[in-house]
Amino acid sequence: MQNGKGRITEIIYGFDDRLLLRVDCSSALTPAPGQYLLADDGLADSVLAVPFFRASSTPELILQSPIPVPSHWVPGVELHLRGPLGHGFNLPAEAAHIVLASLRGGLARLLPLIHQNPQADIAIFTDAVLPDLPVSVEARPIADLPDALPWADFLALDLTIEMLPNLRAILGLAPHQRPACIAQVLVISPMPCGALAECGVCAVSARKGYKLACKDGPVFDLKQLQW
Ligand code: FES
Repeated sequence: MQNGKGRITEIIYGFDDRLLLRVDCSSALTPAPGQYLLADDGLADSVLAVPFFRASSTPELILQSPIPVPSHWVPGVELHLRGPLGHGFNLPAEAAHIVLASLRGGLARLLPLIHQNPQADIAIFTDAVLPDLPVSVEARPIADLPDALPWADFLALDLTIEMLPNLRAILGLAPHQRPACIAQVLVISPMPCGALAECGVCAVSARKGYKLACKDGPVFDLKQLQW
């Protein structure tokens, strides 16, 4: 984890109506897929630090936040950055059939996984507007996700903490049934302190007690969680 500075070089209006920030900063601050950065502008009356996830399949640092970005953050603004924070996705090199499913809207936070296993077949599931994707990537609506589970050997999910209790229904699983493949989930929840103050706001119900999305996640092995 590093503390450093970065400069906003471009604001991009994303394909899913969320702003994307192109940021120039040290590569040591670059989050891996599923990890995050906390950013603030250093002003005394500033908002709490804003979490940002990597949101591009290319090496350049394009970030997206699950919460609104302050309107005065425009190109040229210098940001104080802390990160990379938390645990990201751990995509096994041998995964050949990869399913990426965004249950919460845009695909942005899953895009960095698309080129990680170049030989793998990838299917994405979302009801959101699609970005430009490689022609080899199949895109289908969330309603088709249960049919893809027997094919998958790796499943990456992006959802909010409130969606966990309904996840079995979305995946078409029976009560207490779990996916047969490796399944990892990026849990989006408020993370006001980023593990600095142990505030507990980001607590996720786990098979043994609770885990903190900001520190133990935000990507979890689905087997770790109570859902
Ligand atoms: S955000 Fe405070 S403990 Fe996770």
